[in-house]
Amino acid sequence: MIEPVPPPRLPLGYTLHSFDAIDSTNAEAKRLARSGAATGTIVWARTQSAGRGRHNREWISPSGNLYLSILLYPDTPRQEMTQLSFVAGLVVLEAISNIVPDLAGRLTLKWPNDVLLDGAKCAGLLLESDSDGWLIIGIGVNIASAPVITGRTTSCLGAVSLSPPTARFAEAIVARWDTQFRRWETQGFPQVRERWLAHAAYLGEQIAVTLGEETVTGIFEGLKQDGGLLLRDSDGALRHIMAGDVFAASQAGS
Ligand code: BTN
Repeated sequence: MIEPVPPPRLPLGYTLHSFDAIDSTNAEAKRLARSGAATGTIVWARTQSAGRGRHNREWISPSGNLYLSILLYPDTPRQEMTQLSFVAGLVVLEAISNIVPDLAGRLTLKWPNDVLLDGAKCAGLLLESDSDGWLIIGIGVNIASAPVITGRTTSCLGAVSLSPPTARFAEAIVARWDTQFRRWETQGFPQVRERWLAHAAYLGEQIAVTLGEETVTGIFEGLKQDGGLLLRDSDGALRHIMAGDVFAASQAGS
């Protein structure tokens, strides 16, 4: 007999919508937002049949990995909501480090919002917002398996360490989100930026950034106050990049 999965326990003010299978937790959070769901609505599913990643890529979603979306209505202009992707990246890295302390020194953050384990992608975030004021933060963490993503090296926590069930990660992520979101509300972005940079992958190194058809290379010098990536190109000019995919220069085009 299969043991029932104990659901995540969430902090006060959060409401759980839990599914064995769903198309996409972000899609469900969007449906809930459109029917008036409140801030703090959490959608958690054991599998997704139409999981989505950035740039509308497929996010393969077998059972054993984490699929979670947080719905909120931040009291901030829409262009500042991107700051919350850095909060969420840190939250995921810190939650994993707390649950599996062996992994703490092996996790890094790749701009704008991937979590890497030993340099391979183990978690991704998809932020979606609307002029109605809602923001959805979708979080996928490879726990039991590492589905293939074309052009990327992927990994999962289970490949390098014994990991607890996905519900424990959901619990830890929402609890940490709750405190870090409040901290962002009271202290703003500079402290997030500092902490994010302390875990940044490729900082000070040669990287390639794909911007649609164009690829630019240079040294990753840091984050601007708005979360944009600062790249010193081969002419010595400092470029401010707001959207793109980052690779170690040696991996570009692989
Ligand atoms: C990426 O790195 O491209 C972002 C991946 C985000 C995947 C998560 S899984 C939970 C939520 N539901 C989705 O359909 N996508 C996000």
